[in-house]
Amino acid sequence: MTPLLEVRDLSVLYRGRGRRKDKVALEDVSLNLSEGETLGLVGESGSGKSTLGNCVLGLVQPARGTITFDGRDITGASRSQRRALSSQIQAVFQDPYSSFNPHRTIEQSVSETLTNLPSMSGAEKRARVVAMLERVGMDQSALAKFPAQFSGGQRQRIAIARALLPEPRLVVCDESVSALDLSVQAQILNLLLELQRERGVAYLFITHDLSVVRHMSTRIAVLQQGRLVEEGEAGTVTEQPTQPYTRRLIAASLTADADVQEDRRRARRAMARLALNETDDRIRLGDDLLLAMERQAVTETLAQPDPRATTLTVALSRAEAKGGLDSLIELRDALLELTPRTSEGMTPAAMQTHLQEARTRRCAAWSARGQSGVFVRRMRDLAAAIDAGDDAGARAMVSALDEPAEREVGSDGAGPASHTLGTRS
Ligand SMILES: Nc1ncnc2c1ncn2[C@@H]1O[C@H](COP(=O)(O)OP(=O)(O)OP(=O)(O)O)[C@@H](O)[C@H]1O
Ligand SMILES: [Mg+2]
Repeated sequence: MTPLLEVRDLSVLYRGRGRRKDKVALEDVSLNLSEGETLGLVGESGSGKSTLGNCVLGLVQPARGTITFDGRDITGASRSQRRALSSQIQAVFQDPYSSFNPHRTIEQSVSETLTNLPSMSGAEKRARVVAMLERVGMDQSALAKFPAQFSGGQRQRIAIARALLPEPRLVVCDESVSALDLSVQAQILNLLLELQRERGVAYLFITHDLSVVRHMSTRIAVLQQGRLVEEGEAGTVTEQPTQPYTRRLIAASLTADADVQEDRRRARRAMARLALNETDDRIRLGDDLLLAMERQAVTETLAQPDPRATTLTVALSRAEAKGGLDSLIELRDALLELTPRTSEGMTPAAMQTHLQEARTRRCAAWSARGQSGVFVRRMRDLAAAIDAGDDAGARAMVSALDEPAEREVGSDGAGPASHTLGTRS
């Protein structure tokens, strides 16, 4: 059987502009997707997942390789050919808000995908839009409203309705649920699965959340720095991965713990906000990211079978010996490194700088207030809570790590703690 979608030896090069260097985003990637199936595409941030999806959608032109849809080479499809294809290949992106025109009503936006279908009367169109909206759980009153009047989950339902309206055979889902709360995510994923069963549509399902992809996919492909490192049956890839990279990705991503999930999502959202924000508020967003990632590190440690605050404990003894701002910085780094998930490599390189800046800023603030000792003591209490298995205590402590400490004793100027960085007296 010929696959519905066949990607052969695809390479993509983004040309650098100004001082930016050329970037090879994909290199010799080959993949197949059959009718009615889901191919999950996973990999760290920057591994080339969206680039591949965008090539399939005709939004990015590859340097080499071919894309075949239903036996037809669509690699260099012209604009009009693409328009014709658009009823067969649709997309649902992460943030439906940016993919909807805020000034158009839901009816106008949703019915857009029907424009390339053979002459259909206005009444027929409206009936189809209404039926589709109902299918995704939205009622007719949505038609005259604007995107801003809906929640993120509702907008994603509407985006799915818009994508499925022309009865496409392939939908590229690029991080379609990543911005949603956990409970809403589950509803949207199930909706996508139901629609697939009803209509036999195939999904190219892009995500960095392996727990999501396993739930959705028939097959899974793993990208690392633009190369395909693993591809196979969803169960096999997630349960018996052959590549160390896949194993690391799985160790980092699979979790049954709702707290871990929630904290990962919080951290990811902080990253997304920071990535989107070009000018103002970078300091606040950087601080948010640091706090979210520290919290995530603690939650993930607590979720381990035998959680121990080892890296933190080692850093604590070193901090006591060393003193000064550097030792505070070392402690904060140790906190982030509690679990492999948050260590370097799993955090996008572009975010490292923000994290480091926020970390230094926060440590300098403690130091400037003369309260280094308070900070060190809080770290020590946190390490003790982790070692004692006091989950609730540890979570509360990491959340309150940077709260002002006016009334707390142990300020640097208030006794023996001043010289030895908060040794308990
Ligand atoms: N328009 C562009 N110009 C230059 N470089 C780009 C462009 N789009 C993406 N890149 C680079 O290509 C690489 C792959 O990016 P891509 O967006 O495909 O990754 P991704 O796997 O989707 O990441 P994420 O999980 O963060 O969405 C990255 O290094 C990215 O910085
Ligand atoms: Mg992407």
